[in-house]
Amino acid sequence: MQTVKTQARAQKRKGSAAVALTGLSSYQPPSEPTVLVIFGGAGDLAWRKLVPALFDLFKDGCLPDYFAIVIVDAVQIREDELLERFRSGAKRFAQHQLRGKDWKEFGSHFSYFRADFTNKQAFAQLADRLDRLERKWERKALSIFYLATPPRFFGVIADMLGKARLARKRKQSRILVEKPIGHDLKSMLEINHTISSRFDEPQIFRIDHYLGKETVRNILALRFANVLFEPVWNRRYIDYVTITVAEQVGLERRGGYYEGAGALRDMVQNHLLQLLCLIAMEPPVSFDADELRNKKVDVLHAVRQIPSNSVWEFATRGQYGAGTINGKQVPGYRQEPGVAPDSNTETFAAMKLFVDNWRWQDVPFYLRTGKRLAQQVSEIVIHFRQVPHQSFPPEAAGNWLPAALVLCIQPQEGISLRFQAKKPGAQLILQPVSMHFNYGDAFREPLPDAYKTLLWDLMMGDATIFMRADQVEAAWTILTPVLEYWQSLPADDFPNYAAGTMGPQNAEVLLARGGCAWPNPTSLPGSLAAEPVTDCRFEPAAGR
Ligand code: BG6
Repeated sequence: MQTVKTQARAQKRKGSAAVALTGLSSYQPPSEPTVLVIFGGAGDLAWRKLVPALFDLFKDGCLPDYFAIVIVDAVQIREDELLERFRSGAKRFAQHQLRGKDWKEFGSHFSYFRADFTNKQAFAQLADRLDRLERKWERKALSIFYLATPPRFFGVIADMLGKARLARKRKQSRILVEKPIGHDLKSMLEINHTISSRFDEPQIFRIDHYLGKETVRNILALRFANVLFEPVWNRRYIDYVTITVAEQVGLERRGGYYEGAGALRDMVQNHLLQLLCLIAMEPPVSFDADELRNKKVDVLHAVRQIPSNSVWEFATRGQYGAGTINGKQVPGYRQEPGVAPDSNTETFAAMKLFVDNWRWQDVPFYLRTGKRLAQQVSEIVIHFRQVPHQSFPPEAAGNWLPAALVLCIQPQEGISLRFQAKKPGAQLILQPVSMHFNYGDAFREPLPDAYKTLLWDLMMGDATIFMRADQVEAAWTILTPVLEYWQSLPADDFPNYAAGTMGPQNAEVLLARGGCAWPNPTSLPGSLAAEPVTDCRFEPAAGR
């Protein structure tokens, strides 16, 4: 096994400070005075993700000189209590260490505004607050409205902001919407209609935090900054693609939300389909935000429609029962707080999709995601075809495995290429070996958290890694037959996988029918796990 050393490492050794960790741009403080208003800011997202990321930006000197964070929520909590909660979150999740003096300064940017999201009066008061800040600063400020609330409030809040003249009247304003946008295609279109009636499209930022992950952003670099891969990145050389986002975690106190969502809405509609777009898109002409988003939406538009009378051939679902994770007994989904004892919500979903275009015709893309699985791992595997003619004698190729390129997104961060090598010795024996690139080894820097990148891009007004309305719409369209079929036909086998396994048997069958198999997670050097590989296949699959 060998580690690929990158040029960036050499640059780093020479003391170059210009390694842009965000990929497209290096962090500089935005110059515009900014007020970030977080609706639903007393919730889990702000505690776990947003405030720690903002603290990291603050420590890096990347917040504007004039900066305020207004938390808006209906929760009865004192400002100092909320701030203490944020402090504990930043201590636990921020990349920078928390020191008393820094926190005091950072905390001074916060204020809490208790308000009901449906109260018109509250929005007038919010507008007053923002005006007061501008008067105090003696300059106009950019207002960013971050909707970290359940989707049912998105339309209402956008509408209220519009009525309070906070959408367009100010020097500049932006609105950010968390995923999932809506519950299905119809509700997404309604929400979008309301938001668009108040804000113009360039003001609207739709977040999918996977697009802020360094390893996800690196997919474009791998594909389009190297001449090596693009010539083989097509149906001629690629047999099938697997995209796995496996989680060991369960609901983490989000039973109420998850019961109404399930794995398909929570993960596939956004994160997994966005990964598919990055793998399947055509080369962009430039890194212009709309150019990239055009190329991605082309992929979604090319996804073959799933026939409503044979959904079972393309999608399968699961729900976990009690089991063991890392030696600890965990309850089944139906025993989790906030979950109905006869819940039909899927905690696992797997799909087979085809992208009907010249590049990908008939190449299956298999997607799977689930909670309480055996491993916490996200990776994409490009399974290459076998060679067209096997010239080695059969006894040499007994261990033959087709070449595979593994993009490890998390928790390992890197890329692994598996290929054949001759085993040393007198006999001609072929054996698969792997070559690894590991971010930690190459860059020797912690990767920035996705929310740090996204918040910074949001402040800078760069929409490249945010989603456009047509992407979200196309993603819901792809899933509609499955959502409808699953809703009309409750599963009769739930729970059908034990916590601590890799999901239900039917997910294996989904691939086996096409002569494919889910790969076992790869391990980059430094990991304790061995590198098991099970996707051994010699014959082209028939009958896909
Ligand atoms: C969120 C989902 O979007 O992504 C969660 O709502 C999920 O259910 C999370 O756990 C996974 O994100 P990450 O970054 O931990 O892979």
